[in-house]
Amino acid sequence: MFETESIFTLRSQLREWRLAQQRLAFVPTMGNLHAGHLRLVEAARGKADKVVVSIFVNPLQFGVGEDFANYPRTLDDDRQSLKAMGVDLLFVPTEVELYPVGQESTTRVQVPDLGDILCGATRPGHFEGVATVVAKLFNLVQPDIALFGKKDYQQLMVIRRMVSELNFPIKIVAMDTVREQDGLAMSSRNRYLTAEQRNQAPLLNQVLRHIADKLRSGSRDFMSLQTAAIEQLNSAGFRADYVEIRRCRDLQLPRPEDRELVVLAAAQLGSARLIDNVEIQAE
Ligand code: PAF
Repeated sequence: MFETESIFTLRSQLREWRLAQQRLAFVPTMGNLHAGHLRLVEAARGKADKVVVSIFVNPLQFGVGEDFANYPRTLDDDRQSLKAMGVDLLFVPTEVELYPVGQESTTRVQVPDLGDILCGATRPGHFEGVATVVAKLFNLVQPDIALFGKKDYQQLMVIRRMVSELNFPIKIVAMDTVREQDGLAMSSRNRYLTAEQRNQAPLLNQVLRHIADKLRSGSRDFMSLQTAAIEQLNSAGFRADYVEIRRCRDLQLPRPEDRELVVLAAAQLGSARLIDNVEIQAE
């Protein structure tokens, strides 16, 4: 596996592959790889000649007081996993390489509306940070396809919209959330949970699945379903940020006749901010 921190070296290697007509698949990550990331890499292998993975804990997408400093960094283990999976190139830029003028002064990408609701309302600037780094990485790697997990559903929507509106010639592939046996969505932040919180954590997915069942069987009382879920989470020790039923296509509030819905939630449990979602094709 070829590895570099340098944009110059990355570009020269990619140029060779492109000249040889190789199709490139790209998986951007912040490292601390788990089975969810590895599923993306595995899928990438099946869809292109060369697989490029980036590891960069992007300061621009963390707010003040969030976990940027403590975010788990496990580069040696990540490198071993990616090597074992036959990844062709690992790009591990430094902060200075990606933001040479400093993060405050750097040019940014904003996705209005979609980037400001749900997680964007609680984490102002988060999706601007995500869109900016992903746009930069797309410009550097220029892949044919890029793969993202559906656990970060709003992030996926933000990236899809950015790709469409900024005319990136890149196909975005979305992969299903990979879960622990008890339903908890895999996430690097799960490691912040104590043993007791880890036992509580699957409740987040359970409340979403309960709402999904109700919607499938015809309930349209969105507000009561959301409120009951928030109460259930809070009385179990979570601090629910939101539980929301939204339209799949644009994450806006659904009307009773909308059929393609997604229930999304974010909640703090101890020092971990957990997110999850369930898509529903209602009757
Ligand atoms: O999902 C992530 O790990 C990050 O938000 C991403 C897409 C790599 C951008 O930093």
